[in-house]
Amino acid sequence: MSFVTKVLRRGLTTSALRMAAIKHVTVIGGGQMGVGIAQVAAQTGHQVTVVDQSEEILAHSKLSIERSLSRVAKKKFGEDLKAAESYSKSALSSISLSTDALATVTKTDLVIEAIIENLQVKQELFSQLDKVAPQETIFASNTSSLPISDIAISTERRDRFAGLHFFNPVPVMKLVEVVQISEQSDATFQSLMDFSKSLGKVPVVCKDTPGFIVNRLLVPYMMEAIRLVERGDASARDIDTAMKLGAGYPMGPFELADYVGLDVTKFIIDGWHEKFPDNPLFEPSPLLDQKVAQGKLGTKKGEGFYPYGKK
Ligand code: 3HC
Repeated sequence: MSFVTKVLRRGLTTSALRMAAIKHVTVIGGGQMGVGIAQVAAQTGHQVTVVDQSEEILAHSKLSIERSLSRVAKKKFGEDLKAAESYSKSALSSISLSTDALATVTKTDLVIEAIIENLQVKQELFSQLDKVAPQETIFASNTSSLPISDIAISTERRDRFAGLHFFNPVPVMKLVEVVQISEQSDATFQSLMDFSKSLGKVPVVCKDTPGFIVNRLLVPYMMEAIRLVERGDASARDIDTAMKLGAGYPMGPFELADYVGLDVTKFIIDGWHEKFPDNPLFEPSPLLDQKVAQGKLGTKKGEGFYPYGKK
């Protein structure tokens, strides 16, 4: 294909993409982030399919969505129980569940991946989806810390690939980071900005650098808080109190680390340390390693830096 034909074809694809609003979203991964994204997309008038490996996982995903939707509906409609119920029902009716990712993506406008933070697993998934998804379908990863370009490389659609990074709890946190890679087309970027706004979120744009914006600041902050405890400078409880009352944070760094998951925090910092061993901000922590080795992973396991009762 000549260079001119390539440019023309890319131009055509670009204009076609610009016209197509995202209507159907496939969320791969029915965990905490995946269900949050699915719920918000359904609440805002999108058709959504959540894909995961088993019916059992999907049943749990559905339960989480129902619970969270009823919180949102209660907030929206207060005592008007009928309106709240109808709102939840309508959002739920826009969500379907599937264990067959390949079949689902044959008719979808956007795939958002929110699975395990393992580069190889993500690459394998996207490589398979790339073969069956329509030409115009955009692929996005909700990874917290892996480079988007390393995931995108597994596909032939790097112009239609992005990071779309949501924050926990997704129904509450207003931000979406739209992560650009060098091959990404303007049309893809614009579609994702529009899509994020259609979810009622505020998108920010950032480059494909470790942690994008939020995690690049938040993770070293949590790590430094852990180091304060390791050095015996202050207790976790007092540091949390200090940051909530002295800096207006809704959670202290230890509450936040427990909420995000200590395994997730360790995975992020270890990955960055491996890639950038000279950066002192990315130094691992023996205390964090010890908690993870003990299975104290945070709220999801009933204990992290704090006990939360049995899960
Ligand atoms: N679904 C729906 N609604 C929810 C919800 C959920 N899962 N979780 C909380 N809410 C709603 C509640 O219903 C409540 O609504 P109301 O104001 O009408 O009562 C409101 O949110 C506040 O919740 P709570 O009263 O239960 O508790 P808090 O006031 O303590 O707020 C919080 C909880 C919103 C989690 C708040 O503590 C907070 O903002 N914490 C910081 C969270 C944060 O920093 N997240 C980012 C983590 S980093 C990340 O996600 C990136 C990843 O890559 C690691």
